[in-house]
Amino acid sequence: MIYRSILVFVTILSLAACQTKKEEINFPKTDLAKAPLIPKPIKTISTGNAFGLDLNTVIYTSAVDSEFEKVGKFLSEHIKNKTGLDIGVNSSTGGRLERLIYINQSDSVDLDNSESYQLYIKKDSIFLNAKTAAGAFRGVQTLRQLIPESSNDTLTDFPIWVIPTGKILDGPKFGYRGTMLDVARHFFTVEEVKKYIDALAYYKINILHLHLSDDQGWRIEIKSWPQLTEVGGVTEVGGGKSGFYTQEQYKDLVNYAAERHITIVPEIDMPGHTNAASVSYPFLNGNGKEIKPYIGTRVGFSTFNARKDTVYSFLDDVIREIAAMTPGPYFHIGGDESHVTKKSDYIHFVEKVEKIVQKHGKRMIGWNEIAQADISSNAIAQLWSEPKDALKAAKNGSKIIISPAEKAYLDMQYDSISEYGLHWAGFIPVDLGYQWNPETYVEGLSKEHILGIEAPLWSETISNSAELEYLAFPRVIGYAELGWSQSEHLNWDEYKVRLALQVPYLEAMQINYYPSKLVDWNKE
Ligand code: ACM
Repeated sequence: MIYRSILVFVTILSLAACQTKKEEINFPKTDLAKAPLIPKPIKTISTGNAFGLDLNTVIYTSAVDSEFEKVGKFLSEHIKNKTGLDIGVNSSTGGRLERLIYINQSDSVDLDNSESYQLYIKKDSIFLNAKTAAGAFRGVQTLRQLIPESSNDTLTDFPIWVIPTGKILDGPKFGYRGTMLDVARHFFTVEEVKKYIDALAYYKINILHLHLSDDQGWRIEIKSWPQLTEVGGVTEVGGGKSGFYTQEQYKDLVNYAAERHITIVPEIDMPGHTNAASVSYPFLNGNGKEIKPYIGTRVGFSTFNARKDTVYSFLDDVIREIAAMTPGPYFHIGGDESHVTKKSDYIHFVEKVEKIVQKHGKRMIGWNEIAQADISSNAIAQLWSEPKDALKAAKNGSKIIISPAEKAYLDMQYDSISEYGLHWAGFIPVDLGYQWNPETYVEGLSKEHILGIEAPLWSETISNSAELEYLAFPRVIGYAELGWSQSEHLNWDEYKVRLALQVPYLEAMQINYYPSKLVDWNKE
C-alpha cells in the first residue's frame, strides 16, 4: 500500500516535471458540458482543455481496496477494446509515463452515496474519486463515454484520443435501477444475457431481474428436484428449442454481473404462472385440472396448491438452492395474476413463502398483488398494474419498485407498425417511455417509499439477442437515465440529441436498436 502511494506520488511529481520539458500539444477547444453522457450527471463543469489519452497513459488505483484494482482493469480492458491502447494498471511504466488516470478510494462527505463519484479531468491527469468500488465503476462508465470513437492523428505522430477537461460530480437518484428479462417464455443463453449485461452496465443500471419460471418453462437447475428442468425446462412459447441454466451457468452469470456491479434478482413466479413446475411434479398443482405442457401465451390459469405442506417443503428447497447461489439481498416470488387461486389461499401462500424467503436470508420482492397479504415492512412491492396496491404496501412500510406497464414495459410495441412486442398496455414510443416521472407517477406515494425503477422485458414474442435488443434499445437507455438522473434536469428535446449520439457505441456493440423516427440518429 505504501509502495503504491509512493508510486503515485512519484508519478505526479514526474508529470509535473515532464510538463516543463514536454512540448505542449495544441489541443482543439473542448466542452465537457456538451459531452452526450447518459445518464446525465448531477453537475458538469467544463474547463475547455483536453486530456490526451495515448500510449503514454497509465492507470493507478487506490491500494486500500482490491476491488478498486479490478475497476482499473475493467477500464484498461475497455480502453483496449475501443482504442487498441494497452494501458497498464498499477504496473511500472518503463519510463514512458506522461499521463495518469488515478482511481482513488475517498471517504469525502460529498461521496456519501455508495455509487457516487467525482471525476476531475485535467490536462495530464484524471482523478476518479469514489467511496466504494461500485462508485468507481459508475465513474469509469462516464469516462468510457468520454473517450471518442476515433483518435485525432493530426496532433502528434501517434494517435491521441481527446477527452475534454473539467469536473463531474455525480451520484444516482435511486439505489435500485433495474431491468427484468423473461427467460421463461423464451430461453436466452448465458452468452446472450452477458451481452445484455454489458450494455446495461455502460448506462449504470445496477439490477438485472431474471424471470426464471413461468407456465411455459422452468429455467434454473434445482438439484433436489431435477425434473423441474428435465421436464419443465424443455418447453417454451411456440414449442421451439429452449433450455435452462445449470447451477454453474447461473453462478457464472451472477459473477459476470457482479464484476459489473450489477445485482441479479432471481424470480420464481408463484402461486400462479406455475404450469411448468406442476408438469414436472404434478403434486404441486392446485387448479384441479389435468396438467399438460403449455406453449401458448395465455396467463392466469395455473396455481400451486396453497394448502399442501409438501408444496412448502418443495419451495423451501427451491428457495434455499437459489438463495445459496445469489449473493444479492433479494428473492422475487412473483405473485402476479394468480387468477385461479382463491383469495384466502393466495394470502396464506404469500405469507408462508415470505417466511421461507426470510429463513434463507433474503428480502422478498413480489408484483403489486402481494400487497393483499400481510407482508412484512421489509418486503418490496413491484408496481406494474395497480397503484392502490403500491399505496397499501407503502402504508405498511414496504418499499416500492416503479414498473408501470403503460410506461416501463419494454415488451410493449413502439407503435402499430414496429415488429415484436404486444400492446395490451398501449404503445410505448421512445419519447413516451422517457417523458414521465417515477417519483410522482403514483399520486400520494412519497419519494422515501420508492426503492427505484425497473423496466421489464417479457419474451412472448422474442427469442434471441437481435429481437431482445430491438425492444430494449433504445428505450432501456431512457429508463437508465430516469433511474439515475435528477428528474428536474430531464428534458426529451435535449435527451434525444444525446441519445442519437449513442449510435457509435450501439454499432460497436452490434446492438440491434430500433431506429425510431422520433430521434435524428447520427449515422454515417
Ligand atoms: C405482469 O406483467 N404480469 C407482472
